[in-house]
Amino acid sequence: MSEEIPLFRKYPKLRNIPWVSVIKSPTPIHKMEEICKELNHKEIWVKRDDLTDDIYGGNKPRKYEFVFADIMKKNKKKILTQGGIGTNHGLATTVHAKKFGLETHLFLVKQKLSQHVRENLLCHHYFGARLNLMKSNFRRKLAIKTRLFFDKNAYFVTTGASSPLGTLGFVNAAFELKEQIDAKLIPEPDKLFVAVGSLATCAGLVLGLELAEVKTQVIGIGVTDPTWSSKKAILDLAVKALELMRTEDSSIPDVSDVIGERLIVDHGYFGGQYGVPTEEAIEAIEIAKKDELKLEYVYTGKTLSGLIDYIRKNKLQKDEIVVFWNSKSSADLTSVTKEVNYQDLPRTFHKFFNGSVK
Ligand SMILES: Cc1ncc(COP(=O)(O)O)c(C=O)c1O
Repeated sequence: MSEEIPLFRKYPKLRNIPWVSVIKSPTPIHKMEEICKELNHKEIWVKRDDLTDDIYGGNKPRKYEFVFADIMKKNKKKILTQGGIGTNHGLATTVHAKKFGLETHLFLVKQKLSQHVRENLLCHHYFGARLNLMKSNFRRKLAIKTRLFFDKNAYFVTTGASSPLGTLGFVNAAFELKEQIDAKLIPEPDKLFVAVGSLATCAGLVLGLELAEVKTQVIGIGVTDPTWSSKKAILDLAVKALELMRTEDSSIPDVSDVIGERLIVDHGYFGGQYGVPTEEAIEAIEIAKKDELKLEYVYTGKTLSGLIDYIRKNKLQKDEIVVFWNSKSSADLTSVTKEVNYQDLPRTFHKFFNGSVK
């Protein structure tokens, strides 16, 4: 695990912001040779954030390097966080928080059932999350507020850890990419495709690439309702992260007016419903297997389907260098799911294991 991160190398005064090592970095970056052949496009690369950790990688742990450090600085012991019952964020939080002696309490609402959702639920339990099923978002908010009021050891982590602090994890990721470009591990990319859910991944990359003076344009593929994951919302979060950085180091340029120029947000691959597969995402998952990448249809499959479509429809120039940011953990948790009996979960969750699902 790295002890000095690219962001602090660039701006040493930011070392005043608490940070803790969570991930294996830098994550590898390589060309997807088979996909290049398949799509007849010379330069399609992948940033392997699926490998940020051996047990649970993906994009989330990058955010925790800043969020967990803040929790520990404040001497809190319990994380309260939220999501759908199959939340990747909730699972990633549970797995990583445990290493720091932090307890995770998940406040979950129903979502469309799938095998993946069931597996995540079993993993939440296996890794020690305290599970609370909420009847509505209103009740979820109320329950969390009440717990925060009465339990002084509790700390709230927002959906997807997409706070300004969490966003810094991806500003750092952009500087990591810049160091890989400088080390000639990849030519400077023209375009970068990334999934947009709770925003911080995309927001941090956009801000970081601007500050790192890398030319790359970001194409954020929206996988949730466009009203949540709008370009404006992403930029607002990026500006908050920038403000946070500038309070520690006022010499950091105020790029808030220009960052929007490098960002395109496209909801054309969303398919109208979060977590529901599109035919194009299923095709993209198959294509990705040719380069031994393990994608899923909620985030990364839809994102790669956008990249593929841009190439097929000539929305990218033939010689453009493209990066696909692989944000989903590829660690295999099937042995874990085999060990858990759903009946060991709180009773209110048993109904999610009735009947068959895809
Ligand atoms: C696998 C995966 N990729 C991408 C995203 C999107 O990242 P963010 O929530 O930071 O927008 C998420 C979470 O929402 C995710 O679980």
